[in-house]
Amino acid sequence: MPAARLTIDPAFTVGAVNRRLFGSFVEHLGRCVYDGIYEPGHPTADAEGFRTDVIALVKELGVATIRYPGGNFVSGFRWEDSVGPREQRPRRLDLAWHSTETNEIGLHEFASWLEKVGSELMLAVNLGTRGTLEALDLLEYSNIASGSAWSDKRIANGRRDAFGIGMWCLGNEMDGPWQLGHRSADDYGKLASQTAKAMRQLDPSVELVVCGSSSAHMPTFGEWERIVLTHAYEDVDYISCHAYYEEKDGDLGSFLASAADMDHFIESVVATADHVKAVNGSDKTINISFDEWNVWYIDRYQNVDRIDGIDNWPVAPRLLEDAYSVADAVVFGNLLISLLRHADRVTSASLAQLVNVIAPIMTEPGGPAWRQTTFFPFALTSRLATGDALEVRLETETYRTTAYGEVGLVDAVATHDAADGSTAVFLVNRSQHEPAEVTIDVRALGGVRVLSAETMSDDDITAKNTLDQPERVGLRPNVSAVASGDQVTVVLPPVSWTALALG
Ligand code: AHR
Repeated sequence: MPAARLTIDPAFTVGAVNRRLFGSFVEHLGRCVYDGIYEPGHPTADAEGFRTDVIALVKELGVATIRYPGGNFVSGFRWEDSVGPREQRPRRLDLAWHSTETNEIGLHEFASWLEKVGSELMLAVNLGTRGTLEALDLLEYSNIASGSAWSDKRIANGRRDAFGIGMWCLGNEMDGPWQLGHRSADDYGKLASQTAKAMRQLDPSVELVVCGSSSAHMPTFGEWERIVLTHAYEDVDYISCHAYYEEKDGDLGSFLASAADMDHFIESVVATADHVKAVNGSDKTINISFDEWNVWYIDRYQNVDRIDGIDNWPVAPRLLEDAYSVADAVVFGNLLISLLRHADRVTSASLAQLVNVIAPIMTEPGGPAWRQTTFFPFALTSRLATGDALEVRLETETYRTTAYGEVGLVDAVATHDAADGSTAVFLVNRSQHEPAEVTIDVRALGGVRVLSAETMSDDDITAKNTLDQPERVGLRPNVSAVASGDQVTVVLPPVSWTALALG
């Protein structure tokens, strides 16, 4: 059995774990909103038509912030359509997903749903087909108390208090040729800078996210960040990263090492942002909002699900409804490890998405809601990872991947909360065939007990939770985890993700 050694010392911290690392994303796409969070005829629907079974699952997931309303959708969105009397709201064609948007749910309804789930709103403005003025109008509508045309309109539409939205995305994936209004880095950088300045003139308290690359494999990656930040460095707080991973051509070894790509992505963007900081002679640091990340079988969307036809614009079609396996959840848990490992610079992140669309929560119209395999690592990491992320020392065997070269067989990160003395360790075993025994040196913690040890693994790594078998996969106690003197030992099954709570 391969062995790995991990050393944990609370004196060596990476940075505080920002709660915003545990954000998610709701886009007007497929059945995320309609037939997802909102289904007025459902037996569990509340007076506003929101499914309370979904609300309970979102709370259990532990989601800090929710990015809204897109995604690609936002680049064709007129926000004014989605406020005011519902019967007067127009039905619009959404070009991004070739669907009809009824505008039954808009800013007011979504903000009300967010209050029920207890999450913070992160709102995106349309910088694809619209510009600075429309962004300003939306900010005035949202954040000004009263006494101006747009703020009074909000009050007339039933909301007396300002929404007070703190975090704003300056468009979405503007580097992508698929994006409505896609621009060059120069053009977008200028527009983002002008819009950011204007938004801050209206509300200096807003935190602004400028679009980085849609993937570290975009042909413009690196240069895009440099040029955009050269224009907008002093005007924004975050630059975004987006990354989706899938098993390609049966190459499970590379897929299991996806977090190596995320590590490289984050470190490259940090280096580029810091380069612009040096050139600018700035004393301000730009952090990362990793505001779309997940496993996504994008080929299925491209080749099977994609909608077309001049007369074919369905409402809430089934799109991007990936069912996640145990192996997917292990990769997913490893991506969370990568985000935590960079907690000093990744201070916001959004799991894309939340319900039905590449989501940890699935629903059936008139039927149940259930947890996908990916639900479990997210919920447990969100609950246990508090305080500071630690700089751990990990010695592990390696294996060779086609996509990322030599990578560790075991990967791990730890957090320590000085407030209550708790420590959490998150580990993956990427070996496809062998368990790995990990010895954790906890001397610096001064004697610990294993409070809980939970593992995601299965003899069938393709097993999933489905409508027919909604509880096929879950976390299981890992009884191998024991504390003895200065050490904790644990055996990680092949293709597994584990969380240890020590105290
Ligand atoms: O999350 C699905 C889509 O992926 C988003 O709309 C877009 O921003 C990204 O390409």
